[in-house]
Amino acid sequence: MHIFGTMKRIITVILALAMAMSCGNNRKASGDALAAKAWQEIAPTEVDLNPVQMIDRDWLEVSAGMEGNMNLMTISWGTIGELWGKPVFTVFVSTSRYTHKFMEENDYFTVTHFPESMRDKLSYLGRASGRDEDKVAGAGLTVEFTDLGNPIYAEADLAIECKKLYGQQFDASLMPEEQRQWYERSGLGIHYMYIGEIVHVWKK
Ligand SMILES: Cc1cc2nc3c(=O)[nH]c(=O)nc-3n(C[C@H](O)[C@H](O)[C@H](O)COP(=O)(O)O)c2cc1C
Repeated sequence: MHIFGTMKRIITVILALAMAMSCGNNRKASGDALAAKAWQEIAPTEVDLNPVQMIDRDWLEVSAGMEGNMNLMTISWGTIGELWGKPVFTVFVSTSRYTHKFMEENDYFTVTHFPESMRDKLSYLGRASGRDEDKVAGAGLTVEFTDLGNPIYAEADLAIECKKLYGQQFDASLMPEEQRQWYERSGLGIHYMYIGEIVHVWKK
């Protein structure tokens, strides 16, 4: 009887541990093997999506931070190209966004593209704020961390990892009048541009 009682307790502990590992947190570290997770590394020149389609029409997620302290938001403003002899991706993040804090505090950011079937999730990630809720859980995303520790998502089909080269807020006095008035009317914090050197690109 005593042996059965002990075995029951051991089995209960094992089950509780297994449940704790599988539930309540859909973040997982990738360590060194993104390739083993169906990602294939490609060169920046091999990104075959039209930039206007990819950024303006499909939308992207920009993410910054590391495991346990990260945020992401939807963007449709951005550029991809070259600066100072390096491949670069530039994003524009308003100071009103919670993501802005993560862009300031981290040396890297990632940009991820998703299949069209994820449009509703991207829409949610562009409305909700990480200040108020866990957006990763809200969108049902599975975070994978790159070898550099930056967040990308199992549900994405393209991931671009960038090292911040330059970040600066737009100067309102240098903007066209129309844009200056738009910021005044909307009350939105003036955007920072973050130019990132593309250090890795993966696709599914
Ligand atoms: C389609 C779409 C595109 C967006 N593009 C940008 C953008 O380029 N820059 C920006 O600052 N906000 C953009 N936003 C707004 C942010 O995604 C939104 O305010 C988000 O809730 C911010 O989340 P956060 O507070 O967790 O950072 C966009 C929203 C949508 C729906």
